[in-house]
Formats: sequence, structure tokens, C-alpha cells
Amino acid sequence: MSALTIGYALLFYAATAMFVGGVAYKISVYARTPQPLKIPTTPAPTTGAGVVWRMFKEVTLFESLFKANKWTWLFGWLFHVALLLVLARHLRYFTEPVWAWVALVQPFGLYAGFGMLAGLFGLWARRFLVDRVRYISGPSDHLMLALLVAIAASGLAMKFLVHTDIIALKAFFLGLMYFSWQPLPASPVLLIHLALAATLMIVFPISKLLHAPGIFFSPTRNQADNPRERRHAAGWSARIDNTRGTTSG
Ligand code: HEM
Repeated sequence: MSALTIGYALLFYAATAMFVGGVAYKISVYARTPQPLKIPTTPAPTTGAGVVWRMFKEVTLFESLFKANKWTWLFGWLFHVALLLVLARHLRYFTEPVWAWVALVQPFGLYAGFGMLAGLFGLWARRFLVDRVRYISGPSDHLMLALLVAIAASGLAMKFLVHTDIIALKAFFLGLMYFSWQPLPASPVLLIHLALAATLMIVFPISKLLHAPGIFFSPTRNQADNPRERRHAAGWSARIDNTRGTTSG
């Protein structure tokens, strides 16, 4: 077993543990954080079912972003839909036999790679060209975009410029999953693509990309507009309420 295979095997075990553990931890923090105020962005639904419907439109169509800014919506939505297709296409490297719907999605996932890049460049241009966005853009905003661009570019390079041994690559990842390690093909572009993907997994739980699980915990989006029908009490405020009758003041 080469040092390269061992190094990448350990890298992916560590990256997976940090990604899964880190995101689970962050979600548990979000879930425990009190929402002391009733602050749904109005007009807001008045029922739980309405909140679910609003959230569904928000995560599938980016509805509030559409209302706010058409250019940012166009590039942002393009990037995210393309990313979804690209990741769906990637499932074939981790499954045997490959599921029928993953086989079907292959051509769409491939061209989505270009869509992903187009979306990323649009979002990145905005950080340079729009004054009020440039003003609030920090190094991490640019670095996350650069990382995603580099992942997409190295992926497309493998597909269209320097082919890699996909059969061997798949054996490597299935080997990791079933704890029977297989050699990793030593193609430079593949090694770059994989190292960048592992970097993304490692930084994800401490990055702005946490907006993906975070949106579900956003009080402006997940609350119903029903403060008249139901008294709002959450976390520490509920505990203070319960003790009020027994304590002085
Ligand atoms: C362990 C994780 C990953 C593995 C094993 C992997 C592997 C590959 C391989 C082998 C290709 C070339 C496909 C071909 O030649 O037909 C590819 C392409 C690509 N990858 Fe990845 N990749 C990983 C993670 C990612 C991530 C996280 C992203 C995006 C954030 C990504 C984006 C792309 C894109 C855009 C392409 C080009 C389009 C395509 O062929 O699907 N990859 N990847």
C-alpha cells in the first residue's frame, strides 16, 4: 500500500468525521439556542403548515432572495441547483450497483459542472463590482468562492482534459467505506480535486456554508405569525415564566 493511498485514506476518514461531527454539533447548538422574540418576516404564514410551505419555497426557489435581488438570485440559484446535480452525479463513485436515478442524472450532472462555475463567477463578480457588497466582503467570502471554483475546475479538467482512472477511484472509495483499502490512482488533477474536496468538508462546519442547515433555524423564517393566538415563550423565557409565581419581584 503506497504512502499516497494511506495518506488520502486517513485524510478522508478525518475529513468525514469532522464534517459529520462538526455539522451535527452546530445543528445541536442551533436547536438549543432560544428564540426569545417573535420575529417572523411579515407577511408571514399564520399556521405551522404555512411555515412548512414557506420554508419549502425558500429552500427550493430562494423566494426571498428573488424578491430582494434578481442578479444575486439568478447566480445563486444557478450555483445551488447545479451543485445538487453535480453531487447527485457523484453518488456513482460511492454506490455499487449504481441506483437507476443516479444513472439517469449523469448527463445533467456533467453539464451542471459548467452551470456551477457560471454561478460562482457571477457571485464572485458581485463581490468586486457592487460597492456595498465589496465593502462587507471579507477574506473568507473570497476564499470559499475560490475553493468551490477550484473544485469545479479540477473536476471539469478531469472530465475534459486529463482523464483519470474512475474504476480505480471508485474501488478506493468503496474500499474506504467497507474497510478494505484499495490503491488510489496517482493522477495529479484527481489528487488536487480530492484534496480540495476534503478541505471543503473540514472547513464546512466552521464556515459561512453553515447557512445550509442554518436557514431551518432562522426565526424570521421558521416562526408563524400567531403571537395573538399563542403566547410566545422559548428557552430561558419559558423557565422565568414558570418560576414567576413562586419568586418575589
Ligand atoms: C470525495 C469526494 C469527490 C470525489 C471522489 C470526486 C471525484 C470526481 C471525479 C472522478 C470527477 C471526474 C468525472 C469524470 O471524469 O467523468 C469529478 C468531476 C467533478 N467534480 Fe468531483 N469529486 C468529489 C467531490 C466533489 C465536490 C465536493 C464537488 C463540488 C463542490 C465536486 C465537483 C465536481 C465537478 C463540478 C466535476 C465536473 C463535472 C462532473 O464530471 O461531474 N466534486 N469528481
